[in-house]
Amino acid sequence: MKSLFLTLLIAYFSFLISSCQQEDKHYVIGVSQCSADIWREKQNAELRMGAYLQNNVELRFAAAYDSDERQIEQIDSLVATGIDLLIVAPNQVQTISPAIDRAYDKGIPVIVFERKTNSQKYTAFISADNYEMGRVMGEYIASQLHGKGRVMEIMGLKGSSPAIERHNGFTDALRQYPGINVVATLQGDWTEESAFKATEQWLSQQPKEVSQQPIDFVFGQNDRMAIGARKAIPTPDPSRTGGELYQSSDLSHQTKFCGIDGLPGENGGIRLVRDSILDASYIYPTHGDKIIQLAVEILEGKPYQKETRLMSALVTRDNARVLLMQDEEMMRQAEYLDQLHNRADNYLQQLDTQRVVSWMAVGVIVLLLITMVLFYLYFLKKTAIQREHVVNTLWNLKPEDIPQATPQASENHEEPTNDEPVAASFFITRFKEAVEARLTESELSVEDLAADMNLSRVQLYRKVKSFTGSTPVELVRTARLNRGYQLLLTTDKSVSEVAYQVGFSAPSYFTKCFKEEYGMLPGDVRK
Ligand code: FRU
Repeated sequence: MKSLFLTLLIAYFSFLISSCQQEDKHYVIGVSQCSADIWREKQNAELRMGAYLQNNVELRFAAAYDSDERQIEQIDSLVATGIDLLIVAPNQVQTISPAIDRAYDKGIPVIVFERKTNSQKYTAFISADNYEMGRVMGEYIASQLHGKGRVMEIMGLKGSSPAIERHNGFTDALRQYPGINVVATLQGDWTEESAFKATEQWLSQQPKEVSQQPIDFVFGQNDRMAIGARKAIPTPDPSRTGGELYQSSDLSHQTKFCGIDGLPGENGGIRLVRDSILDASYIYPTHGDKIIQLAVEILEGKPYQKETRLMSALVTRDNARVLLMQDEEMMRQAEYLDQLHNRADNYLQQLDTQRVVSWMAVGVIVLLLITMVLFYLYFLKKTAIQREHVVNTLWNLKPEDIPQATPQASENHEEPTNDEPVAASFFITRFKEAVEARLTESELSVEDLAADMNLSRVQLYRKVKSFTGSTPVELVRTARLNRGYQLLLTTDKSVSEVAYQVGFSAPSYFTKCFKEEYGMLPGDVRK
């Protein structure tokens, strides 16, 4: 019985657990960002949004803050957590490849985005064209300067592919304009601070006659570095420095600045162009949602594009206002979607909890019912065993087999109390004698038997029940049936005669009880 109970319990809880599991295949995607800045934040938000729409995608983010070692470590530990796919923007072309190769060699699909590696071990690559951006910026500057002027370039992190490609594009474009003089190509690392320092240092190193010559255009390889350079280059009015440079009324700067990224939002390039702080920018698309879509296509074994080129566009004062409006609208929609998603998430969580609670409740009820049924069966079995024991042993004992009660106890018609079996057999024998003496009486009642044994009806009932598990009425009927069985075996009397003789007032009722007790009809005893 115990093992049946245990089996039921295990079966129920496995059912409970499996019913709570999701049916969809769940994908874990690791995202290794080389850096953390507003461009990456926007992209991470889009990646999250893309994952929301997929429903079965979990993202694990890591940001290396421009450190090769950190990114290598992060990729290795993402792989160790058991990701199904890796999305990575490698900090530099050479350095991160071994870690990416390790992931790829383990069979993990790898999407390299936005920055390149020098390895062929990747599943897909997605990015805008960095060479083209540099080239367009070169063309733009040349056209703004009518092919003549002094230009400075601030490069992004050394060894990162966008820095190399943007530079190549820019240089190739300007090569066709001999009147454009690139006075300096400075090294930054994509941060505003790096561009500020590099520009300041360069200016301080120039002889006075050079440093006092105005620079006509600065090409920062991203907007943040363009702003850094802008802060370092003196304005005609020396009182207007620092934070004030960002004010939209600041049109007095001789030098023009342009960058790349063209982000929407508070400190984004589009706004800086609209407010004439930057002259131009180039949208460097983030498209996190597209990257997730590509990831899911790969994970689900669907056809996918190995190389994806993202479209991009130049931002100037002419289109900045419109682009900003569009972006603000899109951001509003994204925020709205985010809220909806959060609400749906809460709702689903509540539903999940409710489902678990209801299953638990059903489980508890089922277990209770099973326990009750098992106890009932156990009780029936115990009573049957007890009854069988009494009928088979005590009731059929020969007088000489009955243990002797103490003389004092028998005189007082009391049963010995400290020895249960002796007490039981003594009492049952007395009860059996009383029953058998009046077995033929069909009207025999429990009161009559109690009176014969000098007990009250209740006392008799309790004792009989506790010693035998049966009621006096049941035992009287067993005794009548026993006697009937013997009479059928040993005499020629008819079933009706026997029935009457053992105190049944109706032979049909005798037959029914007999069948129940012995599993056969009285007539079959003699066959
Ligand atoms: C963001 C960023 C952008 C730049 C790109 C180059 O981390 O620095 O500003 O355009 O990376 O990879």
